[in-house]
Amino acid sequence: MQNSRQIANIALIGFMGTGKTSVGRLVAEQLHFEYLDTDELIQAATGKTITEIFKNDGEDAFRALEQKTVEELAHRKKTVISAGGGLPINPQNLVSLKKHALVVCLWASPDKIWERVKSQTHRPLLHGENPQRKIRELLAAREPFYKKADVLLNTEVRSLREVAQQVVHQFRLETAHR
Ligand code: S3P
Repeated sequence: MQNSRQIANIALIGFMGTGKTSVGRLVAEQLHFEYLDTDELIQAATGKTITEIFKNDGEDAFRALEQKTVEELAHRKKTVISAGGGLPINPQNLVSLKKHALVVCLWASPDKIWERVKSQTHRPLLHGENPQRKIRELLAAREPFYKKADVLLNTEVRSLREVAQQVVHQFRLETAHR
C-alpha cells in the first residue's frame, strides 16, 4: 500500500462539526495549498444545495455524487480536501483518497459535536426529531471507518490552530523522506 501512494495532498475526514473546514483552511494557508470541500464541489456541479439533493434526489444519489467527486480529485496536487462527514463510509472513497493524500481524521465526542452544530441548519441528516441521538448513532456506526485514517486527531484538547499545526507537522513528516 505504502509504495503505491504518491502523497501530494491532505484529506481531512471526520464527523460533521469536528472542524474540517476551519482546520482545512488554516492548513491550506500555511502550506500554500489550494483548499477544496467535497460538499462545495457537489453544490457547484449540480447547482443545488446539499439539503436540496437529500430532499429531492435522496441520500443514495448524494453518495453517488460524493464518489464521483472523489474520483475526480485523483490528479490533484498541493490541495487540502475537506471531505463530507459520511464520505469515508464508502470504502472506495478512502482507497481512492489514500493513493494521493495523507488522510487525517478529526475526532470529537458526541456532546462536543452537538455543541458545535446545534445552531447550524445546513445538515439534512440532523434535521430529524432527535439530532443528539442521531449524532451518537451515526458516530458509533462510522467510528471503524474514521479509524482507517492515517492520522487520528482529537480536536477537543487542542485549539483549531493547534490541530492545523499538527496536520501540517504530520504531512511534513510523511513527505520529508520521499
Ligand atoms: C454529511 C456531512 C455533511 C454533508 C452532508 C452529509 C454526513 O458534511 O456532506 O450533510 O453524512 O455526515 P460536513 O461533514 O462537512 O458537515
